[in-house]
Amino acid sequence: DDIVTRMKNVEMIELGRHRIRPWYFSPYPQVELVHLPCIYICEFCLKYRKSRKCLERHLVKCNLRHPPGNEIYRKGSISFFEIDGRKNKVYAQNLCLLAKLFLDHKTLYYDTDPFLFYVMTDCDSRGFHIVGYFSKEKESTEDYNVACILTMPPYQRKGYGKLLIEFSYELSKFEGKTGSPEKPLSDLGLLSYRSYWAQTILDILITLKPVGENEKPQITINEICEMTSIKKEDVISTLQNLNLINYYKGQYIITINSETITSHRKAMEKRKIRIDSKCLHWTPKD
Ligand code: COA
Ligand code: NA
Repeated sequence: DDIVTRMKNVEMIELGRHRIRPWYFSPYPQVELVHLPCIYICEFCLKYRKSRKCLERHLVKCNLRHPPGNEIYRKGSISFFEIDGRKNKVYAQNLCLLAKLFLDHKTLYYDTDPFLFYVMTDCDSRGFHIVGYFSKEKESTEDYNVACILTMPPYQRKGYGKLLIEFSYELSKFEGKTGSPEKPLSDLGLLSYRSYWAQTILDILITLKPVGENEKPQITINEICEMTSIKKEDVISTLQNLNLINYYKGQYIITINSETITSHRKAMEKRKIRIDSKCLHWTPKD
């Protein structure tokens, strides 16, 4: 029944050089794979096999060394590939199955047609290794610019999640729109987004120049939205969370104390890898 089938069902996966213990249930075919100590996944095409021997047989035939689709970004060893969920259905479904192992409340696995998938890879002499991805609806009536987002566990907590988020907003900038991640976000998702929003907005506020002498620098919420593609309600909640908005002599003013500036600068020094918009070769489809 439902409760039984939704219990964590995969003990371990092997993906490239990584062995990873799943966090949640994912609907890999039960009959073939249940009760196996480990399932073996091709790190390039994401097909799964029940033994290392079977995977080795697969690898002889599989000549993919990167995700399918178009490479739309490359800087240093980091690339992004854009994959159409309709044109590369099997890959997209296998990506969803893999991702579900680390996502609690996600229901998309088979109907991948309405989505694009942006897979981030790290390249070495053996190929383009998947680091993480996000999916995005081709048409979103609610201005979502990310549906699901995942950093593969061996790569987590190294700044790649923020790089994925930064890339998603870079796409929105190219589209000339603001966007927001689909709700509900997981705890880790919310932490990452809050941190990204705070850093992005503080960066703008701190470098604002006054228009005239003896004047305070000025900016509107809408201008922040345009510069960052962050949706208005996320800009407002970030300013509130950071406690920057004050009401003073009949108007709202933003005041940033020196501790906030110092800790922001320290945090930005830790963000070593950034998205370089010059390396994005992409035009939005419409
Ligand atoms: N505990 C506490 N803070 C954490 C954390 C953890 N386990 N993981 C990430 N963070 C914080 C980081 O400290 C960082 O904030 P900071 O720079 O202000 O310190 C911020 O979140 C982003 O960290 P980063 O290394 O860029 O993110 P990541 O590569 O670990 O990826 C997720 C973040 C959310 C993509 C990743 O945790 C993940 O894939 N989770 C499972 C899937 C999921 O929940 N997706 C979101 C819902 S769709
Ligand atoms: Na092949």
